[in-house]
Amino acid sequence: EITDVDAWEVLDSRGDPTVRVRVEAGDAAGTFTVPAGASTGAHEAVERRDGGDRYGGRGVREACAAVRDELAPVVAGRSVTDQAGIDEVLVDCDGTENLSRLGANAVLGVSGAVAHAAADATDRPLYAVLAPDAGPGDLPMPMINVLSGGLHAAADLPIQDFLAVPVGAETYPEALETVWAVRRAAGNRISADRRSAGNRSPSGDGDGDHPPPVADEGGFVPSVADADAAFELLVDAIRDAGYAPGDEVAIAVDVAATHFYDADRDRYALAGERLDRAAMVDRVAGWIDAHPICSVEDPLAEDDWDGWERLADRVGDRVQLLGDDLLATNADRLARARGAGAANAALIKPNQAGTITRTRRVLEASQDAGWAPVVSARSGETCDATIADLAIGLDAGQIKIGSLARSERLAKYNRLLGIARASDGGFAGGDALAPLD
Ligand code: PGA
Ligand code: ZN
Repeated sequence: EITDVDAWEVLDSRGDPTVRVRVEAGDAAGTFTVPAGASTGAHEAVERRDGGDRYGGRGVREACAAVRDELAPVVAGRSVTDQAGIDEVLVDCDGTENLSRLGANAVLGVSGAVAHAAADATDRPLYAVLAPDAGPGDLPMPMINVLSGGLHAAADLPIQDFLAVPVGAETYPEALETVWAVRRAAGNRISADRRSAGNRSPSGDGDGDHPPPVADEGGFVPSVADADAAFELLVDAIRDAGYAPGDEVAIAVDVAATHFYDADRDRYALAGERLDRAAMVDRVAGWIDAHPICSVEDPLAEDDWDGWERLADRVGDRVQLLGDDLLATNADRLARARGAGAANAALIKPNQAGTITRTRRVLEASQDAGWAPVVSARSGETCDATIADLAIGLDAGQIKIGSLARSERLAKYNRLLGIARASDGGFAGGDALAPLD
């Protein structure tokens, strides 16, 4: 039974405040820290920020107070193993669909901490607590960020993530090792470009290191301004590392197109160009034809249903079409996208949904639809590794965490390595990607 709930402000990987919640149930306890996005969608559950002067308005003291004053009383005395029942009273207490009254960061904070407390109380790993009766699934195939642009990098490159998917790897540790080599090769190429561009190191030593800048998720910021050049750089890095582009290491891209879509003019503002819907669909289809791409996330804006359907008609039988802002881990939006045949894979972010139970339901609904779920971190994270357990517990098959750098990313990759060692569970591998057979 829940005996105490506390919440306080901590700082995330961007140095911004976020909510940490601790739930106690007698001798057992669990702690969870809420992540935060930069390229957030309009249809996500609403994150509550204090405004005012503290932390540039990004404080979360009110969300923490909401946990202590309003949510703690309604969960007190409930069994920590009743995740669905607790999530229901949390949502009812907020009273809004998008959790805007108390804040989704308050609600998810409690929901996540309850899951951890249940693991402690029952002396089981979190992934086993989150698993349905059938038990936990395989270690997920990671899609790993190598190059960054968009809102995560403040660079010329408008596309947000260029990721490596080690589709030929046979184990999870091999998947990491593979992308480590690709990332290092990409870093060497970017350093060489910077050296030849005369980008001197602070020591003034022209032959010294010219380490590439690193973005919010640990990806390198390349000195290229268009997507084709970034795809080519990644293909070269895959070859440098000794892998076959496409067959052994394929490319995923998160276009995050909502953020360069100009709704007033109904145009995509892509690096100086203004593309209409048909031209944007052509552009993305052109990338898929020209490069070894296996997955495309948010190629069109979050409410451009027509554009999504056109693209899905053209390429949906060949590549994974992954909805992030489009679906916002929301059951109603997933149902609409299913009906329209607008995508074939769903990004799953707990803080878009607002509770562990809502997250689980959207993930399971995407599996029921024959779609591929991809559990995902946010660009603002802490060393909380809950999503690693979620991906295995619910057998998502894929995970997206960021690059192989920065401890808030590695905490999750390393959690999966620990589970790989402790279990003899399988690895989802390249078959986890949509379109599924
Ligand atoms: P975000 O980025 O956390 O800034 O939204 C992640 C993503 O777009 O997938
Ligand atoms: Zn995204």
